[in-house]
Amino acid sequence: MNILLLGSGGRENALAWKILQSEKVKNLYVAPGNAGTDLIAKNVSLSITDFPAIKQFVLNSDINMVVVGPEEPLVKGIYDYFANDAEIKNIPVIGPSEEAAKLEGSKDFGKQFMLRHNIPTARYKSFTLNELNDACQFLETLEAPYVLKADGLAAGKGVLIINDIDEAKKELKEMLSGMFGEASKTVVIEEFLSGLECSVFVLTDGDSYKILPVAKDYKRIGEGDTGLNTGGMGAVSPVSFADDIFMKKVEDRIVIPTVEGLKKDNIIYKGFIFLGLIEVKGEPMVIEYNVRMGDPETEVVMLRIKSDFVSLLEGVANKTLGEKKMEIDTRYATTIMMVSGGYPGDYEKNKEITGLNLVDDSIVFHAGTKISENKILTCGGRVIAVSSYGSTKEEALATSYKNAEKISFDKKYFRKDIGFDLK
Ligand code: AMP
Ligand code: GLY
Repeated sequence: MNILLLGSGGRENALAWKILQSEKVKNLYVAPGNAGTDLIAKNVSLSITDFPAIKQFVLNSDINMVVVGPEEPLVKGIYDYFANDAEIKNIPVIGPSEEAAKLEGSKDFGKQFMLRHNIPTARYKSFTLNELNDACQFLETLEAPYVLKADGLAAGKGVLIINDIDEAKKELKEMLSGMFGEASKTVVIEEFLSGLECSVFVLTDGDSYKILPVAKDYKRIGEGDTGLNTGGMGAVSPVSFADDIFMKKVEDRIVIPTVEGLKKDNIIYKGFIFLGLIEVKGEPMVIEYNVRMGDPETEVVMLRIKSDFVSLLEGVANKTLGEKKMEIDTRYATTIMMVSGGYPGDYEKNKEITGLNLVDDSIVFHAGTKISENKILTCGGRVIAVSSYGSTKEEALATSYKNAEKISFDKKYFRKDIGFDLK
């Protein structure tokens, strides 16, 4: 079969790597892709939100399945665009419907969903600018620190955690007045939860589900989880505190009510559900839903799925996921994200990347890279994810670090403490 994968990050390089292990695949196209996907698949120059152009490409290239990496096309309704067009409605899109994608596209929608289906999450209320007084009163009922979240998509920057109440009120007013544009016209204020976080990914066909290997990502730029938030600086899987007892609670209290809740609400979901979880005194609570795989979690999760991934995706498309077996690799997987100096602030691009051919025992996934005149250049903040297996977390990390040292580009930076907080 021929598959079109949308996206251009490390997540998509990892998905492409896994998809290509399937004997079912004849051609894999990635739009727009990066230098890493260009090395293993065929990059196509298409905008991921230009649905008419995607349709034309799908028809012209005899595509049998579309796999969506990032949230933007999902929130903009690519699933429904295909489902409602007679010429392409039989071509499955792996991803949720526009309505379902609101779980990520609107934090208020996600919180209401959790409340309606008794899914454990932080206490919250949502407000708009004309409710500023009520919002400030609600803040007074909470203890510091205060968590303010822009309702809409804000490129990962829409969450503020503030210690001082007066500061929180000031920032709240600015958010409601348009700090994040339309995205913060509504603000979710919620109780602060304290604990370790992990990411659980669920693949669902709307009826059955499979829980993919649990991972933990490291969001802050600095060691010891300090400094600014990034897209993610590394990841490990499995996660020591997410043991069988914890995961059983996750399944019973979160995964099953989520899949059943979507059904009860008549919301079509055929794709990945990303549960951002926090462990509070042994109990899992939902911090957020995303409607896609995580990045860089995908760069470890794909390593740990042994089964034919395309067969699982076909199960999603044909609603036969329940009949499929998913085998998991018991080894540890780790990934180290190498980033451009200065990221997540300003950074320079177009730096040549060398040493990729020296890597052994690791799998190199490209994130922000491009090919120009036969050279591989940086073209983003997150540049290369170095993923490895090991019989222990330490062994996998040692292999990733050994290989990260061999890869060079001007002002490269990576955290040296990925996995530091886990046993
Ligand atoms: P989100 O965009 O919802 O993932 O939030 C970004 C990050 O903010 C999360 O990964 C958490 O580290 C933190 N965060 C969000 N909500 C809360 C909360 N209620 N309590 C503590 N930390 C939170
Ligand atoms: N690693 C977190 C995310 O993909 O949003």
